[in-house]
This record gives sequence, C-alpha cells and structure tokens, in this order.
Amino acid sequence: MRKYCVKTLISHSNTQGNSPFLLENESAYALWRQEKLANFPSKISEITVSIKALDDFCVQQRKEILDLSAKANMVFYKVESEPTKETISDFAFLLGLHRLDGNLCAGDDAISSIQMRPDSELHKTYIPYSNKALSWHTDGYYNSSEKNINAFLMHCARTSESGGDNQFFDPEIMYILLRDDNPDSIAALMQTDVMSIPPNEHNGEEIRPVQLGPVFSIDSESACLHMRYSARKRNIDWKVEDRVQYALNKITEILNSGSEYCFKYTPTQGQGIIANNVLHNRSKIYELENKLEKEADGNLGAGRLIYRARFYDRLSRSE
Ligand SMILES: [Fe+2]
Repeated sequence: MRKYCVKTLISHSNTQGNSPFLLENESAYALWRQEKLANFPSKISEITVSIKALDDFCVQQRKEILDLSAKANMVFYKVESEPTKETISDFAFLLGLHRLDGNLCAGDDAISSIQMRPDSELHKTYIPYSNKALSWHTDGYYNSSEKNINAFLMHCARTSESGGDNQFFDPEIMYILLRDDNPDSIAALMQTDVMSIPPNEHNGEEIRPVQLGPVFSIDSESACLHMRYSARKRNIDWKVEDRVQYALNKITEILNSGSEYCFKYTPTQGQGIIANNVLHNRSKIYELENKLEKEADGNLGAGRLIYRARFYDRLSRSE
C-alpha cells in the first residue's frame, strides 16, 4: 500500500459563496447550525468504535467511523491488536487521509513518536516531547495556508503513570458559540492578518518563515471550516483590535468553562482518536522516577508514547 498519493479533488455543491460560515448567509447558517447541534454527541461513548485491527475492518465499519466523525469532527477507537506505524498509516489511508505532513521531529514515515526526549537536543526544544502541559491549540497553526493541517490521528502505545489527560473541542461548535454571542468576533477572526507566528529558527537557521493568517477560514477544497489557534502567550502576535481581543477572551472563556461540548479523555494503550484537527490540550505528565531516569539515558522503552500523524486531507463521508 502507498503513502503519498495525491487526493482527487472533490467537487462540492456547497461552494464558498453560499457557505454557512460566511456571515451574510444567515439562513444557510441557521439550517446548518440546527442540524449540527441536533446531531452533536453528548458523550464520548457515542462516537467511539471498537476495531479488531487498524488495517483490517469492513466496509460497514469504515462507514460507521466516517459517519460518527461527522457529528463532532472526531471519532475515538479502541483496537484489539497493537498496531505498528505502518498499520496506523494504512488505517488513515483507508479513511481518506492520504497526504501526510512531515515535520522535523517525525520519522521518515512522517509519523511522530510523542514521548519525553531529554536525550535529544532537537526534540527537547519542543513542549510535546516534555512532560509539560500543552495549552489549547489546533495542530500546525504555524503552517502556511497551502499546508493547512486538516486532520490528525493520535494513537496511545503506552500510558503515563498519571496525567497526560486530553480535552477535545470541535471548532464548528466554537464557531457557533462565538457567532451566537457576537458575529463581529467571526469577522475579526476571519481577517487574513489576525494571527502572526514569528519565524522558527534552529541552530541559527530559519526553518520556517513568519506565518500570517486567519483563525477561521473556509477550506477551498472541501468548503469546510478550518481553524488555526493557539492559546500560547509567547510566539504569537495578534492583531491589535478591540474586537479581536474580545473574541480571544471569549474563546478562552468557552474553553475553560467546563462546557458540555468539551470531551475529556485519558487515552490508554490501544486507544486513539482520529479527528478533523479539532482543538485539544494535554495536562502535565507524571512518570515514576525510574522511568524518567531510563528516558534520560536514551532508553525510550518506558513512559507515555503517542504515535501522531497529521494530514492535509479531511475525514469525509463523500469519498
Ligand atoms: Fe496537538
């Protein structure tokens, strides 16, 4: 089976002009909103599937996974047989996620092994490879719009002693809550210069230029809503406008309000999530002292291990 094939472009009847995500389309928004909220799951178990093996599931199960993912832009799974990176990649491929995003810390297969890496000069500069908490974000918020991350998969291969809890929040629900509160927040966050990420440098070399872009945009390929966001205080320059600040405060308030739309999740071995790049965070990770010592020695056979893959494609029922 292949890895990097080019996805056939899909033609959509829902073009940008009549998108419910444009403020002028109030009736389209009202219809879409009503359907979204009516179908939204009330708990994780409603959007969780059990699978024997990630590279061996039937057409009916594929349909079930894609149908469930459409409700909240995410689906959780529990798999019986422990997958390899290859079978994780195959699983994603079978769900329409063909174009993997590589990054500095990923292997040649473009799948990252997220674990503490105190032995690696490169890895230890990135928070995901530490035991620190990760604040709310969507993946690849620092990518250019040509390389928007539209989906991710995270598979738990090993758990931590404690901590490492995740929370997930559907960006479409965030859009609804913001628009219902004040449509001007949406206008503010759709500005193409609202969020600026300074360049990334490693060993004095620029490995990513400055990135300027919107928080909310409409994906030209799928006509779906895309969200770029990070709650990090450092390394993000927000456009100085009252309405931008109002919208950012509202996002923080919603994410920290214990919202009924937020899914709390502590992955155990064999569990994973596949999602349309929903908002997520991670609490601090705690390991036993001897596990930390092993990892400091470069012995990476202990402690929390998450395989993570990112894609330019979205999960879609239309394929
Ligand atoms: Fe992330």
